[in-house]
Amino acid sequence: MSTPFPPAPFPLARPRRLRASPWIRRLVAETTLTPADLVWPLIVHDGPEDEQPVPSMPGVSRLSPKAAARAAVRARDLGIPAVALFPNVSTVAKDGVGTGATDPDGLVPDCIRAIKDAAPEVGVITDVALDCYTDHGHDGVLEDGRILNDATLERLAEQAFIHAHAGADIVAPSDMMDGRIQAVREALEANSFQDTLILSYAAKYASAFYGPYRDAVGSARALTGDKKTYQMDFANSDEALKEVAMDLAEGADMVMVKPGLLYLDIVQRVAETFRVPTFAYQVSGEYAMMKAAIANGWLDEDRAILESLTAFKRAGGAAVLTYFAPRAAELLGG
Ligand code: PBG
Repeated sequence: MSTPFPPAPFPLARPRRLRASPWIRRLVAETTLTPADLVWPLIVHDGPEDEQPVPSMPGVSRLSPKAAARAAVRARDLGIPAVALFPNVSTVAKDGVGTGATDPDGLVPDCIRAIKDAAPEVGVITDVALDCYTDHGHDGVLEDGRILNDATLERLAEQAFIHAHAGADIVAPSDMMDGRIQAVREALEANSFQDTLILSYAAKYASAFYGPYRDAVGSARALTGDKKTYQMDFANSDEALKEVAMDLAEGADMVMVKPGLLYLDIVQRVAETFRVPTFAYQVSGEYAMMKAAIANGWLDEDRAILESLTAFKRAGGAAVLTYFAPRAAELLGG
């Protein structure tokens, strides 16, 4: 961005005057971060423990439906508007088409209902993708080593319907199949869920930074190969605009860029080009990286959290999904 007029030269201009004390810094801050900008991703599980720590994500635990409901109450009390659910299923057999993803009495529908009982004011976002339910760990239906796009769409549309029916407020397809927003939107319309929001993971890159998450949800063990035939190439930026344009045309209400900090240029381009709510996801690898440095005393936790999250807002992000959400909200006085 170019400045509308050239700044006065020194000594007429002394930019430090605007930084001289906390009150003036607060007064002229261009960006503010509040608990209302945060979404708290919750890893949920069907195991016996109420809370089961995830080793690669210190401070994060897999939660039972009851514990997820408690977390939602905490989110509400901290002023965090929404939680996002990601399942680790161990009691359901995984198969090639992810049958467990469309069980109306499965883990995710259970969690949605438990959360809506305990804290109905908190928005519930669900992940629409098959990877947590397939024996190959991919987000789509796999046949002869290929991910079948159109066969996957039918599964995703059904999964989104199951989530909406259980009470999800926002369904968030994170699979990167072509045409899935249209398929999901049509399924919602056809079943009287026209008010269900769609948050599209529109620009989702094939990233090394999802590693700890795949441990957390248990999809890493199974994953054969990589996700490069559907998730985006991290060399590309124009392609992100094409994906976003298509998803908006297909009926997405909001779009997401993922991962986060390494992709702030994409957040900024998408937000400026489309002027729609653009979410960003500070993913598990970013969280783990910061936590490791914090544990070593190399980074100050609270300052690093607020600086990293403010960067998303500065880039034009409407909201940030972050595993730091509860701590950030505490720091922000939620
Ligand atoms: C897949 C999904 C992934 C994440 C959220 N949904 C990982 C993947 O694509 O393999 C990653 C979240 C994170 O790393 O925090 N449906």
